[in-house]
Amino acid sequence: MSRIESLLRAMTLEEKLGQLNLVTAGQAATGPIVPGETTQDIRAGQVGGVFNLWGRDVVARTQRLAVEETRLGVPLIFGLDILHGYRTIFPVPLAEVGAFDPLLWERTACASALEATCEGIHLTFAPMLDVSRDPRWGRIAEGPGEDPFVGSKFAQAKIRGFQGERLSDRGVLAATAKHFCAGGAATAGRDYAAVDVSERMLHEVYLPPFRAAVEAGCAAIMSAFNNVNGVPMTSHGKLLNGYLRRKLDFDGVIMSDYTAVTELVEHGVAADLVEAAALALTAGVDMDMVSGAYLRCLPEALARGLVAEADIDAAVARVLRLKERLRLFDDPYRFAAPAEGVQEAHRQLALDAARRAITLLSNRGILPLAADVRRIAVIGPLADARADMLGPWSAAGAAENCATIPEGLKAALPACDLIHCTGVSIEGDDERGIELACTLARSADVVVLCLGESAGMSGEAACRATPGLPGKQRQLAESIMATGAPAVALLSCGRPLTAPWLFEQAQAVLATWFLGDMAGHAIADVLTGLFNPCARLAVTWPRDVGQVPIFYASRSTGRPPDANNFYSSKYLDCPVEPQFPFGHGLSFARVTLTNLRINRLEFTLGDEVEARVDARNESEVATEETIFLFLHDVTARVARPLMELKAWAKVALAPGKSKTVAFTLTTESFSFPGDDMEPMFEPGAFDILVGLSADRKNLLTASLRMIST
Ligand code: NOJ
Repeated sequence: MSRIESLLRAMTLEEKLGQLNLVTAGQAATGPIVPGETTQDIRAGQVGGVFNLWGRDVVARTQRLAVEETRLGVPLIFGLDILHGYRTIFPVPLAEVGAFDPLLWERTACASALEATCEGIHLTFAPMLDVSRDPRWGRIAEGPGEDPFVGSKFAQAKIRGFQGERLSDRGVLAATAKHFCAGGAATAGRDYAAVDVSERMLHEVYLPPFRAAVEAGCAAIMSAFNNVNGVPMTSHGKLLNGYLRRKLDFDGVIMSDYTAVTELVEHGVAADLVEAAALALTAGVDMDMVSGAYLRCLPEALARGLVAEADIDAAVARVLRLKERLRLFDDPYRFAAPAEGVQEAHRQLALDAARRAITLLSNRGILPLAADVRRIAVIGPLADARADMLGPWSAAGAAENCATIPEGLKAALPACDLIHCTGVSIEGDDERGIELACTLARSADVVVLCLGESAGMSGEAACRATPGLPGKQRQLAESIMATGAPAVALLSCGRPLTAPWLFEQAQAVLATWFLGDMAGHAIADVLTGLFNPCARLAVTWPRDVGQVPIFYASRSTGRPPDANNFYSSKYLDCPVEPQFPFGHGLSFARVTLTNLRINRLEFTLGDEVEARVDARNESEVATEETIFLFLHDVTARVARPLMELKAWAKVALAPGKSKTVAFTLTTESFSFPGDDMEPMFEPGAFDILVGLSADRKNLLTASLRMIST
């Protein structure tokens, strides 16, 4: 008999339900807190996992309660949200995705896993794989942006990074793909709100990153808070048991989100907590995060015949199997040993990631800063910010490890005279500091305007109906620019910010997002030209919130936007085009693409299609370019998006040099979900579009046909 079978036989119902109970402890500024009743519950075998608790001593002490003081000695699993770093904080995911480099995504996850496992964590509630096309939604910062193909590559890389080769190895974490699914499509960008998306959108946009995560072997999946098409994800049997378990053969743990099981009552699908617990369990949710409803109510649900003991056993078996895969039964205190020099190596990685996450949005030639700049005024509410550089979900990160912008500039330009002031606060109405800020600006050769959001304005429950610059920042920026001082604006943010006036007036604008520990140094390296910026937008940047949701992969209409046709799809008061398209991002170099060619004009199932393009660096600066390949299925029974990303390549180009970049597409790339949502292939015309962003005016096109066999 296997260990799991014999444990299941030995367990009382209460002990079984204990394994399904995931509780939170608290990590306070002064130290960890395990509430008294949690200690009692662990001793009583009523807890399967604990999260928000880290550190060798407290984890070992808490684990000892389970291993040495419970009847069966089943170890606890310790979890934590590690979205962009554990102690070393890397850029927020939306920014890091902009590097378009799966190896980087993997390396930062791997580094985080190493740090977290040294301090007792076994499982992370990451990666967050919600595709989102709505910058109002605060959680857009935590995920891969707007594109399902990018989301899928991000999923694979993060899971490889967190989980390594084998979960049994020390130094790796079990990953939890979340939030399954479509949370990024919450109505009007409001957290926890209902989602109404078609079956087609689910299969084309929201499910693919999760499928990629399952294929990459992710250990766990967290269901989303939202209801999708009327059914809360916590009780969505069709998507949890149906899609994940039966269709994708996912055999890992499915957990609810925080108190989401009890929230089924508020959602209006369960009459009481007993029904709520039964609905979640029978839909496929194994672990109940925080609500305690499984522990308290499943006995009654059993008595009412709403669940079978076999449902409970199956869920418990999956939790025990995860503990077994992590070797927790043999090694309950599996702390990785901190290796010499690791912290410094991780800081270097954080610098690399932060530099590669900075997106140069516009530049009228002011950047890189001239070598003769002598006096720089760093002005704005984020001018000297430290904690805000970390962004939301900064785990065990600490503000004191973070380099501010003045610190970065001082280190990069020791001979330069640096002055700084805030002028206004991030939010709030006080404009009295603007005058002094203008005086400082007038005395400087260049102004670095540090604008944006606080860390708390992104992440969970941090949605904004008007995602522009908050408070009096516009007044500050316009007053500074009116002095005539050349101004470079930095946007610290977790989402694209609508500010068309800024892009018109500033000499240069960079999205510096929330870059983590090395923010100040990374920013200084880009401003001074020590590092040539290379990030690209993983999300379309709107001009106005009225354009939202906005994304490049839209479908055509019978009346495409046409300035000369009144009755065409457009606005009276705003252009249809975004401020910046998906994939936009400048560097200090200028690269041209020419000569797109493909190896066949006709192809059939099983053929590979190869596209080649010549990239030439026309400038005197070495650069790293990202080249995107989109596909358009010209005519199909179901209208296809105008463009779908199918591949990208990165190429390093020395000044004046050219390289040929090759892309290979398998026929899978040319399929789309048919009526039954299974991949179908429809012969006919396709266009391959290649360019430096999704800006349709600047793409090279090659056409080919799929012919039937
Ligand atoms: C709620 C969030 O939605 C989820 O992403 C997170 O993992 C849990 N809280 C635990 O912190």
